[in-house]
Amino acid sequence: MGRPNFLLFALISTLVLVVHSEDPYLFYTWNVSYATLSPLGVPQQVITINGQFPGPWINCTSNNNIVVNVFNNLDEPLLFTWNGIQQRKNSWQEGTLGTNCPIQPGTNFTYRFQVKDQIGSYYYYPTTALHRAAGGYGPLTVHSRDLIPVPFPWPEAEYNVLVGDWYSKGHASLKKFLDNGRSLGRPNGVIINGKHGKGDGTDEPMFTMKPKETYRYRFCNVGMKNSINVRIQGHTMKLVEIEGSHTVQNTYDSLDIHLGQCYSVLVTADQTPKDYYLVASTRFTKTVVTSTATIHYAGSNTPAAAALPEAPVGWAWSLNQFRSLRWNLTASAARPNPQGSYHYGKINITRTIKIVNSAGAVDGKLRYAVNGVSHTDPETPLKLAEYFGVADKVFKYDVIKDEPAENVGDKITIAPIVINGTFRNFVEIIFENHEKSVQSWHLSGYSFFPVAIEPGTWTPEKRKNYNLIDAVSRNTIQVYPKCWAAIMTTLDNAGMWNLRSVILERQYLGQQLYISVLSPARSLRDEYNLPEKMPLCGIVKNMPMPVPYSA
Ligand SMILES: *[C@@H]1O[C@H](CO)[C@@H](O)[C@H](O)[C@H]1NC(C)=O
Ligand SMILES: *[C@@H]1O[C@H](CO)[C@@H](O)[C@H](O)[C@H]1NC(C)=O
Ligand SMILES: *[C@@H]1O[C@H](CO)[C@@H](O)[C@H](O)[C@H]1NC(C)=O
Ligand SMILES: *[C@@H]1O[C@H](CO)[C@@H](O)[C@H](O)[C@H]1NC(C)=O
Ligand SMILES: *[C@@H]1O[C@H](CO)[C@@H](O)[C@H](O)[C@H]1NC(C)=O
Ligand SMILES: *[C@@H]1O[C@H](CO)[C@@H](O)[C@H](O)[C@H]1NC(C)=O
Repeated sequence: MGRPNFLLFALISTLVLVVHSEDPYLFYTWNVSYATLSPLGVPQQVITINGQFPGPWINCTSNNNIVVNVFNNLDEPLLFTWNGIQQRKNSWQEGTLGTNCPIQPGTNFTYRFQVKDQIGSYYYYPTTALHRAAGGYGPLTVHSRDLIPVPFPWPEAEYNVLVGDWYSKGHASLKKFLDNGRSLGRPNGVIINGKHGKGDGTDEPMFTMKPKETYRYRFCNVGMKNSINVRIQGHTMKLVEIEGSHTVQNTYDSLDIHLGQCYSVLVTADQTPKDYYLVASTRFTKTVVTSTATIHYAGSNTPAAAALPEAPVGWAWSLNQFRSLRWNLTASAARPNPQGSYHYGKINITRTIKIVNSAGAVDGKLRYAVNGVSHTDPETPLKLAEYFGVADKVFKYDVIKDEPAENVGDKITIAPIVINGTFRNFVEIIFENHEKSVQSWHLSGYSFFPVAIEPGTWTPEKRKNYNLIDAVSRNTIQVYPKCWAAIMTTLDNAGMWNLRSVILERQYLGQQLYISVLSPARSLRDEYNLPEKMPLCGIVKNMPMPVPYSA
């Protein structure tokens, strides 16, 4: 081999090295605008992204850098959150009203974040006003890098299935109900990927399977009020992943997916070649509302049978299903908690926070509360107030107590709720639901271990019933009526993190809070600086930039 060739070879190797040393970027440009669509068969205003509803699939791989330039062509301020993506050191990208000033109409803002080893199924949605009630959501998948095997063969294809209840009124009318102190009432239907299936054999197939092949269906409940049960005629589902954790691969006839949760399953096309219905129906409602999507076997032309598989009844069934969910401790895929906190059962609890949800009236208007306080978002986002050193002008820390009194829900006051969390504390959060409806809670910034859900009220003795071995690390947990749930996590991610009811009207009317986790070091090792070009608002709008965090 001559010298020039060798040089060329060296040069190419260097280039390859350079490319490998920086993690790949995925760029998206989103035009967010209204369109008239008919999710329930009747035309209404829907929020679309580049004309699509649901929005584009962010299909990425761990360590990818995601850049989303959002153009707000709505007539109202807008923010997006990346539900379940742990923004490590980077709550600036969280996209909630406690962390960010909204993107004003007619302007654009670029979200920049890196997805880490959270191999799994997520979704994004607008957090402002009641925009989620008009759509604007879409799927987000994090794949494993080639080097890291997943504990099952690569499927023939993957399908996103965003299910949820839906209102036929627009988001502005729904918001007016809540602003006037009224409840939203019952949703009008259920949709699957933005469509309501008639289930009479006339719907276009939504999914196609080749006989004998295996497919991955990634379900998320993106709805506003109801838990949803999903099932497929004539087929079982092998559960493989929940919100970024590989599970023990149990087989289910149907799965309860509570608000905000994501589950992925493998389905093998091993039945008689014809069409089959995928069924999504509401749970725990007086009237069960159902929608279907058609799964077509390639090469067949027999319509699906009209009889739909039955949904389970009652919440005891659902609690048993929760108890069957286990983390696969031997799966070799990267752990969602890189600090090794999967030995979570051996870590001493440093703080226990009990959260009691309640509903009531303040000045004659409906509000929802956490430990007697109904959260309100000040004009200056909490995180920005902290960063600019003016937190004391915007909110008070710890307006709720870790151990609320038994009757804490009886009287409701309105204030921003910010819990002062201590960096690296290992915390236990108890959700105690004294109400008659199922609750669903999402924590941003972290995955947590849901160690128990049980009927009744919580006492410290209940800890002996915890699953301290193989609870599935995840980001959203349901709490059945008159039950409690316990979760555990390490507050190792500095930032301002939202703990919210996923029930849209509860969240909007105050059933949420923030946990502020500050690194005492003000070091870039623990938290990034405020990114450039971040919109500013409220009292920090024209303030001089604070001294940045340093290395
Ligand atoms: C965004 O979408 C709206 C509505 O469809 C359209 O009027 C506008 O031209 C689009 N803008 C861009 C930059 O594509
Ligand atoms: C999604 O990403 C995976 C992993 O990179 C890739 O194999 C697959 O083809 C992608 N799917 C689509 C539809 O882009
Ligand atoms: C708005 O979009 C333009 C054009 O793509 C881009 O150069 C600019 O950085 C964006 N602005 C923000 C704040 O993201
Ligand atoms: C867990 O993952 C391992 C390793 O990939 C796999 O072989 C095993 O079948 C899985 N176990 C269960 C119970 O799903
Ligand atoms: C946890 O607490 C127990 C009892 O207070 C103590 O003996 C033990 O050393 C602690 N373990 C760790 C890992 O800190
Ligand atoms: C928050 O808690 C830390 C201890 O973890 C304490 O040093 C700090 O003063 C507290 N801040 C406020 C505002 O209460």
